[in-house]
Parts: sequence; structure tokens; C-alpha cells
Amino acid sequence: MPRFSRRSFLHVSAAASAAAAFQFMTEPMLAAAARRHEPHPPGSVAIDSNENPLGPSQGARAAMAAILGQGGRYSDNLTDELVNTFAQMEGFDPAYVSATVGSTPPLALSVMAFTSSEHPYVTADPGFELGMNVADHNGARVVKVPLTASHAHDVKAMLAAAPDAGLFYICNPNNPTGTMTPRADIDYLIANKPKDSVVLIDEAYIHFTETPSALDLAKSRNDVIVLRTFSKVYGMAGIRCGLLIAHPDTKQKVLNRGGFNFMPITAVVAATTSLKDPQLVPERRRINATIRQQTFQWLDRNGFTYIPSESNCFMVDVKRPGQEIHDAMAKENVFVGRIWPIMPSWVRVTVGTQDEMARFQTAFQKVMRA
Ligand SMILES: Cc1ncc(COP(=O)(O)O)c(C=O)c1O
Repeated sequence: MPRFSRRSFLHVSAAASAAAAFQFMTEPMLAAAARRHEPHPPGSVAIDSNENPLGPSQGARAAMAAILGQGGRYSDNLTDELVNTFAQMEGFDPAYVSATVGSTPPLALSVMAFTSSEHPYVTADPGFELGMNVADHNGARVVKVPLTASHAHDVKAMLAAAPDAGLFYICNPNNPTGTMTPRADIDYLIANKPKDSVVLIDEAYIHFTETPSALDLAKSRNDVIVLRTFSKVYGMAGIRCGLLIAHPDTKQKVLNRGGFNFMPITAVVAATTSLKDPQLVPERRRINATIRQQTFQWLDRNGFTYIPSESNCFMVDVKRPGQEIHDAMAKENVFVGRIWPIMPSWVRVTVGTQDEMARFQTAFQKVMRA
């Protein structure tokens, strides 16, 4: 994996050269590339990276503070505890679960493991770009298939576009649209895909919806991988913890691509504590849904068009090149974005706090009327 510092990355002036320079780019890197200048100034509204403004829960913070004194030890038993906690909660054999440093590494490693010059990477368009970049660097064809009219993955078109697919990437809810692909479509994809291909279901944002997870597919099959992250609803993007869930043989093929490493103990104790808190997910789902709904009502009242989302981000139609509004909003100290080439007049907005969304509304009204 390439080494980079956030600072050195920000000195790369154009997104295109950044994309060429790095093997893969993840959410903050893509947001920084779209920003094309220094980090957000203090006091600005950062709703461009699908982060959670609430940060880690109080319990997670206390667990991290309490473990600091043990920082001189690897303490991999704490990682086992996280894996066992998740496995027990979801009815898995722990051999199906591995802790990862966010879901970026297992996503990249899965793409490296299952795509090649003979076996393409198949994804939705617009979709999360990380896997596309990795597949491209892996010499695999990247097959981008437009979403359906209801903004679901078009599984029939995905199957038709790549009969030799190595990996189908389903992001549910999808980044950037926040829309769901029905379970029946995922089942259809699995029933009709090439035998040796793998379906990776990225559930980074699943906690924001009421929709059931596809974890059962990773339990019953050896060709489905599910990824989870603590970066979104759990507010731990900067702490770094994720989970790779797959049949042990499949999981091993993924992990073999990356080599072994220990987890940061702060991340695993925060993640375990978060999992054990029964109020955390419902409470944060409610907060996000309330602010998202208020924002949608405001957009409705003001005649703006958006795609209804079930996640912590949504796409809004700015009816002109999206970059113009992105740049104008940045001048108001409100950072939104990105823009996807297939939807050039739409801009992605992350759901922030009530106060941040009030500032979004003021700035958006101003730049749209200009
Ligand atoms: C769909 C999706 N998958 C995976 C990731 C990777 O996140 P992390 O490495 O923080 O878990 C992101 C980040 O925004 C994402 O949007």
C-alpha cells in the first residue's frame, strides 16, 4: 500500500494527478482532491466526507481513555474480544470475522484478490470510487453500470455487462445517492452471476436505514463478502476500525493480499464498547433521519430537487455544473461535494448537525440565487 501523509496529499493540486499518483483514494482523500486546496478552515462546515459530526460515543471515548496506559502492549486479545463480540451478536463463527483498520483496506484487498485483467470489477455509477481505482491499478476492466430509475443497482445490466466478472460491488445504501438496492435484486445477482465471481456488499451506511443487513449471505455462502465500518454511524472515522465478514477461506484470500498487522487498541476497545451499547445505533439513526428529513422539507419548500436518501448523505440537483456550486459554497465556508461525472449537475451533501445544516441552507440559498 502506498504511504502518504494528509498534508503531502493536499499539496497535490489536481484530483486527476492525485488519482494517478496513489493506488487508491478513500473518502477524505477524494474530498480533499475535490477541494483542491488547504484543509477546511476553523469554524467551517465540513459536510463533504460523509463523516459523523457526533464523533465517538461517550462510552467509546471513556474506553479509549482507559486503555491508553496499555498502549505499550500489542494486546491482540482486545481484537479477539471485538471479533467475538460481533460474532456472538450476529450469530457467526468468529472465524468468519476479522477486524480491520476501517473498511478501506478490506475493500481494496478484496478487489486485488478477485479482479484481474481477465476478471473485471463491476460497480454502480454513480458509486464509491475506491474499488474502481484499485481495480484499475490491478489491470482489471472497470465496468460502471448506471443506477436504475429508482437509484438501485441495476443488477441485470451489471450481469449483462460483464459475463466474466471477478467482483460485483454492491454498496447498500449506495454512496453517493444514499439509496437502497432491494434484497430481491441482490439475491438475483447472486443466483445468476458467474460461478467463480464474488459479490462484495459494502454496508458502510447500513445502520442509517431500517433495512435488514445482508450478513446472512456471508454466513451461508463462500462467494459473498460483507464489509462494515465504525467510521459512519459510530463516529470513528479518525479512530479507524472496520470488520471483514466472509467464509474463512474467502476471508483468507482477501487478507493474504495485505499481510498481517495488529489493530490499534484504542480503535478496538472503542468499537467493542460501541457494539455493546444498545442505544447507540437507534439513537444516531433517529438524529440523522430527523435532520435529513428537515433538510429535505426545506429543499421541498424552496423548490430544489434532491434524491430521497436513507443514509447520511444525499444528492441535490444544482442545475448547472456542480463544481460551480461546490466552489461558491466553499467561499461561504460550507464544504460540500463531490460531483460524479455521470451526474454533472448534482452535488453530494453529507447530513451534518442541525446547526451545520442551517448554515448549509443559508449558503445554498445564497449561491443558488446568485
Ligand atoms: C461506501 C464506503 N465504503 C467504505 C468506505 C471506507 O471507509 P473507512 O475506511 O473509513 O471504513 C467509505 C468511506 O467513506 C465509503 O463511503
